[in-house]
Amino acid sequence: MKLLSLLPVIAGTAQAAVQGFDISHYQSSVDFAGAYSSGMRFVYIKATEGTTYTDPKFSSHYTGATNAGFIRGGYHFARPTSSSGAAQAQYFVAHGGGWSGDGITLPGMLDLEGDCAGLSTSSMVSWISNFSNEYHSLTGRYPVIYTTNSWWTSCTGNSGSFHDTSPLMLARWGSSAGTIPGGWPYYTIWQYKDSNAYGGDSDVFNGDATQLKKLATG
Ligand SMILES: *[C@@H]1O[C@H](CO)[C@@H](O)[C@H](O)[C@H]1NC(C)=O
Repeated sequence: MKLLSLLPVIAGTAQAAVQGFDISHYQSSVDFAGAYSSGMRFVYIKATEGTTYTDPKFSSHYTGATNAGFIRGGYHFARPTSSSGAAQAQYFVAHGGGWSGDGITLPGMLDLEGDCAGLSTSSMVSWISNFSNEYHSLTGRYPVIYTTNSWWTSCTGNSGSFHDTSPLMLARWGSSAGTIPGGWPYYTIWQYKDSNAYGGDSDVFNGDATQLKKLATG
């Protein structure tokens, strides 16, 4: 009897986690209507890198995602040695990475991956702070931070400076999210697979559709 009464709760939990994906120009065209029909509800789309590069597919992807009903946002690939965090936040916001509390726009995401760009952990933390603070002053939101446990540990010394302000998008391809770095109590989005039936990577939001909408409302 106890087990039976638990079943609806388990089913509800499985349904609650909202599926999504993230894409860039590597996906030349995306079947957004099909992706939406498959159950996915959010997408992060590459917008910029450094202060010189805008993804050539950003606009068409963003329009396609919007028309299909997705909650969507842009992301910025960090180039911490090419210019300051603030300069890159300005460039990102000027090229699609802005935010408004319309319920369909995710806070811009800062993509931190690769090597540590030769920066000390304290210089990296300063660079990320400079980006985050500028993004906040321009948009009213702090960016979502995308990282892996190993990148955050080696490149920031496992900094606990961002968990109170930025939602975490944790990358770990596998069946569990593993260690959550940086003092974050949980991930907001987990990138759990480097592929997706509709292109890009597979992501899951740590909550239901109402909570996802809240993230896009502020
Ligand atoms: C970013 O860093 C520059 C250079 O150190 C500084 O002048 C500026 O005030 C910083 N901006 C923010 C928003 O932290």
